[in-house]
Amino acid sequence: MSKAIAGFSKMSKEQKIDWIAKEYFADPSAATALIRKYWNNDAELQKLHDEFIENTITNFYLPLGVAPNFVINGREYIIPMAVEESSVVAAAAKAAKFWAKRGGFRATVIDTQKIGQVHFIFTGGTEKLKAFFEIVKPKLIEGTANLTKNMQKRGGGILDIELRDKTGLLPNYYQLYATFETIDSMGANFINSCLEQFAKILKDEAQVYQNFTPEEKQLQVVMSILSNYVPNCLVRAEVSCPVEDLCEDNGINPKEFAEKFVTAVKIAEAEPFRAVTHNKGIMNGIDAVVVATGNDFRAVEAGVHAYAAKDGRYTSLSHAKIENGTFSFWIEIPLALGTVGGLTMLHPLVKLSLEMLGKPSARELMKIVAVAGLAQNFAALRSLTTTGIQQGHMKMHLMNILNQLGATENEKQLAARYFESNTVTHSAVEEFVADLRKTNAAHVEEDFF
Ligand code: MEV
Repeated sequence: MSKAIAGFSKMSKEQKIDWIAKEYFADPSAATALIRKYWNNDAELQKLHDEFIENTITNFYLPLGVAPNFVINGREYIIPMAVEESSVVAAAAKAAKFWAKRGGFRATVIDTQKIGQVHFIFTGGTEKLKAFFEIVKPKLIEGTANLTKNMQKRGGGILDIELRDKTGLLPNYYQLYATFETIDSMGANFINSCLEQFAKILKDEAQVYQNFTPEEKQLQVVMSILSNYVPNCLVRAEVSCPVEDLCEDNGINPKEFAEKFVTAVKIAEAEPFRAVTHNKGIMNGIDAVVVATGNDFRAVEAGVHAYAAKDGRYTSLSHAKIENGTFSFWIEIPLALGTVGGLTMLHPLVKLSLEMLGKPSARELMKIVAVAGLAQNFAALRSLTTTGIQQGHMKMHLMNILNQLGATENEKQLAARYFESNTVTHSAVEEFVADLRKTNAAHVEEDFF
């Protein structure tokens, strides 16, 4: 029988849960109990979260961790990170500590322009359209004055509007290509509202433009939307130090380490399969801070990966070199972020994260996020080129495996000690716990250590 349902969104939360539990679960009361277990005891707070989206049934936790000891442009930060992957926060904290002793991270915002487009079809001549656009352009600015007034007061607004001829891509296809400065807001709503207003003005003005034929007057707006590709909303983060200062207690000499590290980056620059994983490691750091600060990680992901392919081939987002005995490692990425508006006003933990970061401006947050990405990349490459990634990763994963196996506190403590000097694999942990359970726990220490 079909499970299609009409009017689902109109049902109360309880009715939705009852229906889902009955229709989709072997044990409806267990499913309902689990769903309810994740509700917040504070009804007001729960209501706030319920209303973020449609059809909310419960909350889905992600841990909020913190990576201390970041030094960025001489200032200390503790960086909040919301992420489920076990080794990400530890790796960020390790890289932060490493670079804090070597002058810290430096970061610079290169530009903060955002882009929006009105995509339209015009069946007349391009020159005629250009002449029309020159007349319409000031009307587009005037006609959006009500929308841009507040943004202008804050120092932002519409930077420019261009007519772009895209008929080489698609017959009769043109764009209004607009650039915006949105200061501390990510700006999606502001940009989309301006674009929709541009579209209306464009259509209305075409209807009454005397030089257009009746057909040309029927200029068709296909859609108006911001672009998540923001190659001019760019930030750079970097670290550098004399090669000999790279020494650590990992048994590898600093020169050898620096050279291997640079080669690893060059491989990611040259080879797309590696570049994707290399950049995924960068996004481990970036997304975690983007989520913790209430920003749109899908927009950031889409824009960053497009930027990684901007020259026609997908490549590394970070770069490294050794020059005159100095090791340098840097990243340049597009990040459209906000520290006001959207979730930043609503989600209590987003507010907390932003306060922890010292209530940054969007520009400052761009720097922090880029640094988190570079730190994460440094930590990953350092492990990959020395011990291998699994050692640290599986150590962090140990607790997840133990939790999956329902290990007791005593079993966890014994496992943590045992796996300090033994390789963590899922089966090794399983075997260890099974052996523990077979043995009298009281005698286990003698058997295992
Ligand atoms: C794992 O989440 C991320 C890494 O694969 C990144 C990398 O390979 O550089 C470790």
